[in-house]
Amino acid sequence: MPAGTTGVAPFFGTMQQDVLRQQLSQFGQEHLIRYWPDLRTDEQFALSRDLLAIDFRQIQQLFAAGEDHTNWSELAERALPPPAVRERTAEQNQHARALGQQTLAAGEVGVILTAGGQGTRLGFDQPKGLFPIGPLSGASLFQILFEKVVAARTRFNVAIPLYVMTSQATHHATEQYLQRNQFFGLPPEDVVIFQQGRMPAVDCSTGQVLLEDRHRVAFSPDGHGGLLEALVRSKAMADMQRRNLARLFYLQVDNPLTPVCDPELLGCHVAAGSEMTTLAIAKQSSRDKLGNIVNIDGRVQIIEYSELNPLADDIVERQDMHGQPVFWAGNTAIHIFEFAFLQRMTEVAEGLPFHIARKPVSSLNDAGILVAPKEPNALKFERFIFDLLPHAEHALVVEGKREAVFAPLKNASGEPFDSPESVRAQMTDFHRDWLRSAGVEISDETAVEISPRFAFDEDELRVRKDLPKRVTHETYLR
Ligand code: UD1
Repeated sequence: MPAGTTGVAPFFGTMQQDVLRQQLSQFGQEHLIRYWPDLRTDEQFALSRDLLAIDFRQIQQLFAAGEDHTNWSELAERALPPPAVRERTAEQNQHARALGQQTLAAGEVGVILTAGGQGTRLGFDQPKGLFPIGPLSGASLFQILFEKVVAARTRFNVAIPLYVMTSQATHHATEQYLQRNQFFGLPPEDVVIFQQGRMPAVDCSTGQVLLEDRHRVAFSPDGHGGLLEALVRSKAMADMQRRNLARLFYLQVDNPLTPVCDPELLGCHVAAGSEMTTLAIAKQSSRDKLGNIVNIDGRVQIIEYSELNPLADDIVERQDMHGQPVFWAGNTAIHIFEFAFLQRMTEVAEGLPFHIARKPVSSLNDAGILVAPKEPNALKFERFIFDLLPHAEHALVVEGKREAVFAPLKNASGEPFDSPESVRAQMTDFHRDWLRSAGVEISDETAVEISPRFAFDEDELRVRKDLPKRVTHETYLR
């Protein structure tokens, strides 16, 4: 009903308020409509839509269960290193690559890109995917990752559909940006953009859902684990089935070095008959801010850095009986899923567990004024996609080289490895190494960037007829 409609509107308002009050009172959440009489009709509509979207019983149960009761120190003490493909001979690599190439050429692979996070730590007020990261090109994260899919399609001469998950916070701006840039060369019919779900934040001590405005609930994205529900709801899952996809390459928007559709990784996954494969990198220190991939009771599982880091050194730096650090395998958040596994997991009734985090969330105080707390005042509920790992009948971990596959953009500055400056430096180093391995001379001081459209991988770079013999000044190869 449009704003300012008279006649029916006041009736709607009173009636709806009564219905809502009755429903909310069962869960002690009547405060959510305390401003109802002062709201315009369109605001009443917006609020009732928000409220009807919340599963208050679920919120009540999550709050009652309280913050995570998992005994992380006990789990960490029981953990073993995960089963992993680490050192490989050139022959093994070649075999895996050939298998991966076959699977790509058969048109069995799709790509899932999660881009729902708000990039708060980066201090960028647009979706993170729009961040200009190309060291010379200024290309955005989206451009680089989309062009990697374009390059894989060209190389294997097949359609590779790309499924982009956004959130309420990033959807509109992402869609507009991608349309404006003609999906960076991907056919629009092969790009499926869909929104993940959202969860309300609740007050830490009372469990009351917070309002960010008199007519708006304080929602945030439900975590990348919201992917499963969102795939079904948006019918992206049905689209995958219609296209007969056998496996999905999964990545997160923050890492421009992601080897999208890497044949070797795909080949390892297929050869092992894995249902879910994770690309790992060796951690530089036991307290690196990376999820820790481990084996607990015969199942592969990830213990997040935030759970491990508060524990004592003797737990975090444990070694197994062969003298190998238990927590060596860092999660790059790059996975390969068998489609059948994803589909089976959407049918598990209880779904993935929620992780509960204490965070500062701006909300209306009793006087109706928006307050931005410095200290955590709220609980947020998120699901993590990697919690699928222990459900996989067979899960595999493959080690990659950090400098070649992992340069995530997380912070504006401060951290040594994940600021725009350090990500750009790592991209430049990587491209310089690529050129050298293709026989090109280039000094350490020369800045260079290779567009994914110029070469999908090192093999393709090597056979380019227009490859210069020497690069002596700043060069963007595209
Ligand atoms: C994450 C992983 C960590 C891994 C590291 C690698 C989690 C909980 N931990 O840490 O194990 O070692 O990345 O870089 O993920 N996203 C969504 N929707 C959401 C939340 C996140 O799409 O609701 C996506 C976005 O692409 C975002 C990415 O997930 O960029 C990473 O999320 P973030 O919260 O930044 O995770 P990290 O703490 O960096």
